[in-house]
Amino acid sequence: MGLEAKISVLPYYEIKHPEISRIRVFPTPEEAAQAAAEEIIGVVRVNPQAAITYATGDTVIPLYENLARAVKEGRVDFSETSGFHLDEYYPCGPDINEYPHGFVAYLRQRVFTPLGIKNANEMNGLAPEGEAEAKRYDSLLSAQPIEIAILGIGPWSAETQTGCHIAFNESGTPFSEKVHVQTLDPVTLMRDRQERGQDSPERALTQGVANILEARRIFLLAYGEKKGQSLREALFGEIGPQRPASALRLQGQKVTLFIDEAAASQFGKL
Ligand code: GLP
Repeated sequence: MGLEAKISVLPYYEIKHPEISRIRVFPTPEEAAQAAAEEIIGVVRVNPQAAITYATGDTVIPLYENLARAVKEGRVDFSETSGFHLDEYYPCGPDINEYPHGFVAYLRQRVFTPLGIKNANEMNGLAPEGEAEAKRYDSLLSAQPIEIAILGIGPWSAETQTGCHIAFNESGTPFSEKVHVQTLDPVTLMRDRQERGQDSPERALTQGVANILEARRIFLLAYGEKKGQSLREALFGEIGPQRPASALRLQGQKVTLFIDEAAASQFGKL
């Protein structure tokens, strides 16, 4: 059996949107993650030196598992690609025992090591001057075109009318921002501390919306009703800094959403 023959055809439908070119809806998160993985694999096969920005978080774990499996099976080679961070708590170090919430540790464990990425560009969450580290990272990013930016989306609060971050760009952050130090929104802090039991900082280093929009392709993954509510704000609410993910509509021709039916079920209730 040829390698391609192993790939099953995934069921999905598309939702039409005035700005976002592709909103692909799958029955389950597993199928959405598999489809996103196949698209990324396709891009890397065509461009083995692709620079890719990797989100962290729970949503993208099945995606990275699919990519790691494909590498193990010899279906794709990431060794010549470059990996970039989307964001990192600040201050935060790579030692998982000291910083269990840290994104460097996450990316090493789930992405850089299993995919065999040699050129991993890590944000230094222990840099003494956050803004200087942001500048350093911004010049790394600007040095080459980003082929794919992989994103998740943050929670939205109807009460505070804030949320739906991409990377750690919180409500009120201008779309023109590049890599910067971000003070986290109370909605994010509540998620981190109450829902996740994390003792994580109130600030973060993050790629800005401007960096994200420069990528050639933007893939956003979101599953479940809560993420659906957040996406509904981003897709159908007012475009502006109050809803950072709404910025994707300004470059919608580059954007593909991989979502599940539970997330899509929230779009009708605007
Ligand atoms: C995190 C990160 C983002 C991520 C988002 C969603 O805190 N700042 O990079 O995409 O919030 O995370 P999750 O998938 O765990 O819900």
